[in-house]
Amino acid sequence: MNLSEIKRVLVVGAGTMGHSIAQVYAQSGIEVDLVDLKQEILDSAIKKIKLNLNLLAEYERVPRDEIPAIINRINPLTNLETAAKRANLIVEAVSENREIKRKVYSQLDEFCSEDTILASNTSELNIFNVANIKNPERLIIQHWFRPPHIIPLVEIVAGRKTSPEIIDLSFNLLKKLGKTPIILKKFTNAFIVNKIQQAINSAVFGLLVRGIATPEQIDLAVKTSFSLRLPIVGVVQNLDFVGLDVLSDVLKNMGLELSLIKNNVEQGNFGVKTSKGIYDYSGRSEEEILRKKDEKYLKILDFLEKINAFEPV
Ligand SMILES: NC(=O)c1ccc[n+]([C@@H]2O[C@H](COP(=O)([O-])OP(=O)(O)OC[C@H]3O[C@@H](n4cnc5c(N)ncnc54)[C@H](O)[C@@H]3O)[C@@H](O)[C@H]2O)c1
Repeated sequence: MNLSEIKRVLVVGAGTMGHSIAQVYAQSGIEVDLVDLKQEILDSAIKKIKLNLNLLAEYERVPRDEIPAIINRINPLTNLETAAKRANLIVEAVSENREIKRKVYSQLDEFCSEDTILASNTSELNIFNVANIKNPERLIIQHWFRPPHIIPLVEIVAGRKTSPEIIDLSFNLLKKLGKTPIILKKFTNAFIVNKIQQAINSAVFGLLVRGIATPEQIDLAVKTSFSLRLPIVGVVQNLDFVGLDVLSDVLKNMGLELSLIKNNVEQGNFGVKTSKGIYDYSGRSEEEILRKKDEKYLKILDFLEKINAFEPV
């Protein structure tokens, strides 16, 4: 199957994620069936989609005059069979419950054509063990972030049997939707972002349980420190700014070793100060790189202060 053949998408589950994923597909001109168990859930989903689109129009992310056509492309229904039969791609966004998902996949397997692509939005389940379907090479994880109509990232995770064509197609499709897809090299529980988020949560729970700081202090600390850096240098490039030589000593003191750091340090690549580290700065001087970074930090700081971001929402 190629991109142009994806003309009709079925999103199963119209909750927090499903309604917004359906909206993104409709925004890109694709016909969408949105299925849930009850009409009232679908009514609420359509209401939310309308509010989302109006807000996007306010921020000039969607032309206001296109909103009625986008909504018309979304067909809410409770009949899974009807929708599954006519879909080229099915996005599964039902509750994160192994038994519910298992049942949905067995229904989909019965109803849809054997080459319909099945994309799960699961956050942590190994869907490749949960879904018992014919042609498992068409099953893939496309993991979106809340709210899908705003957050760019979609993690693509393949199972051992997922075909390379489905991985490529997923990547190109999500690009076409205006998203930022990342293909993980292999399956791991919680993928990239939730794994990092889990580590943060575990540190936060520890601080709270031990009474080290109040919730408000923890949030203020995070918002006025690494939150400013994250959008510019992420979490890995930041290490180049720390200095890999420094980091290597820290790791040694902790009895740890990371070959990525060790190998770089052995080759004299300490990060920004040597113009090469985990990233290659192509011979640019430390001053030049620091200035480029700091200008971006200042722009972020100006903006965050302007929108009172350091106050609680
Ligand atoms: N909430 C998040 O931030 C988030 C982020 C990324 C991924 N996810 C994942 O997305 C999936 C959906 O999460 P959510 O937060 O939208 O959950 P949700 O509870 O808001 O929505 C799930 C929807 O699935 C429907 N549903 C249940 N069984 C169904 C069936 N048999 N047929 C049709 N619809 C059915 C429910 O009625 C509900 O409306 C989960 O796998 C979750 O882990 C959630």
